[in-house]
Amino acid sequence: MKDTKRLAEWIKQSRFTVVLTGAGMSTESGLPDFRSKSGWWKNYDPTTIATVDAMETNYPLFHDFYCMRLKTLEGCSPHQGHYILADWEKKGLVQSVATQNVDGFHKAAGSSNVYELHGSLQSIRCSLCGGLSGVKDFLEKEACRSCGGRLRPGVVLFGEMLPQDAWNSALRDIERADLVLVIGTSMQVYPANQLPSMTKGKTALINYEVQGGGSGFDMVIKGKAGKVLAETDQII
Ligand code: OAD
Repeated sequence: MKDTKRLAEWIKQSRFTVVLTGAGMSTESGLPDFRSKSGWWKNYDPTTIATVDAMETNYPLFHDFYCMRLKTLEGCSPHQGHYILADWEKKGLVQSVATQNVDGFHKAAGSSNVYELHGSLQSIRCSLCGGLSGVKDFLEKEACRSCGGRLRPGVVLFGEMLPQDAWNSALRDIERADLVLVIGTSMQVYPANQLPSMTKGKTALINYEVQGGGSGFDMVIKGKAGKVLAETDQII
């Protein structure tokens, strides 16, 4: 049986399906991922730029990097694949989306049960008092209006905990899922990469490059997220 046909069957049979996405979900929107040839971490060392230490000791570099990420995001929008996942949620075929992405595209496309495990790029807050601020203030390198602290994006930096609510909700759903569909992630970042192994249900992976044969998954489809989701949607 063709891979997408089998995936369509699994989705229809499952009573509780959770989707876990990574940066490969958004490359077809024009956003680079992190570890592919043209990914962010090929040009920048995450340990010197995406850490609490970088924010505290080298704010100009930290600030430049996240301004670039925000400006790249401004020119992009969700693609067909994001809309298909939102539509599947409305039809009761998908119960929730747990994402490592900080672009907000799942919500923008209409998915409502979205757990943003690595936070959100556009939620700007003060690094000292936590007070909320706007993207414009961050881009213009303004200080926090309440305490004068440095502003930062609401993303999880290396060395920080994941947002507890998002993690607990994702874990709760994955533990009860019949199917976990993982899309566009190299599965290299802890703890999100542990989630698929925490289900008793089936696991399927859609990824452009499949390292190590996608070991541990019950089904692996090599391909682009948007294209594979569109083909699966047609069959459903
Ligand atoms: P990676 O860049 O590590 O992995 C993206 C995966 O998506 C790669 O295996 C690509 O082959 C695949 N891919 C690219 N385009 C695709 C497409 N159109 N369709 C399907 N697959 C595609 O990104 P993540 O696994 O999301 O964390 O990285 C995890 C975390 O590492 C990120 O959330 C970020 C980063 O450091 C933080 O910043 C905290």
